[in-house]
Amino acid sequence: MILIAYASKSGFAKEAAEILAKTLPPAGLVDLVDLTQKTPALDGYDSVIVGAGVRVGAINKAAKSFLDNNRVALGSKRLGIFISNCFADSTDEVLKSSVPEELRSSAVWIGSVGGRLDTARLKGIDKMIAKAASRAVKEDQKVYDGLDHAALEELASCFH
Ligand SMILES: Cc1cc2nc3c(=O)[nH]c(=O)nc-3n(C[C@H](O)[C@H](O)[C@H](O)COP(=O)(O)O)c2cc1C
Repeated sequence: MILIAYASKSGFAKEAAEILAKTLPPAGLVDLVDLTQKTPALDGYDSVIVGAGVRVGAINKAAKSFLDNNRVALGSKRLGIFISNCFADSTDEVLKSSVPEELRSSAVWIGSVGGRLDTARLKGIDKMIAKAASRAVKEDQKVYDGLDHAALEELASCFH
């Protein structure tokens, strides 16, 4: 039984989690849970994938609490961790500051599945920060412009 637990603000980590849920056979043995709505119990799952969107250098709070509060139980599972972000070069830094070290080393897959700084989807302060961040992007910086499907496939392949 596989648990895919995600926390997403503008929908990219959610979309990635839904793609994984469809990709991972056999259907019916995958539970998809939104961590901002519900905190799932981990008994009964031998594999867990945790996904989170990134805001200002940190993963979504609901996902951070879930990882922190379940670090012992998650350490004994086949674990995958993905983030959805837009600045590819900062992925390692975000993971280092947001994910407990023991889970970073026990995970069978950990990394970014891409994302997008989509100002059209945003409002208020988020929109302002996003616009400022896009203006600060340097020419040689790698910026994701959508989900990275190759990364998603690689992640999924660890759970077949
Ligand atoms: C206010 C705001 C701050 C963000 N800060 C970062 C950041 O520090 N690093 C990064 O790589 N992406 C950043 N992003 C881009 C998001 O991580 C990206 O849009 C991601 O796909 C969002 O995932 P979600 O929709 O699941 O929340 C930011 C986006 C917004 C709106």
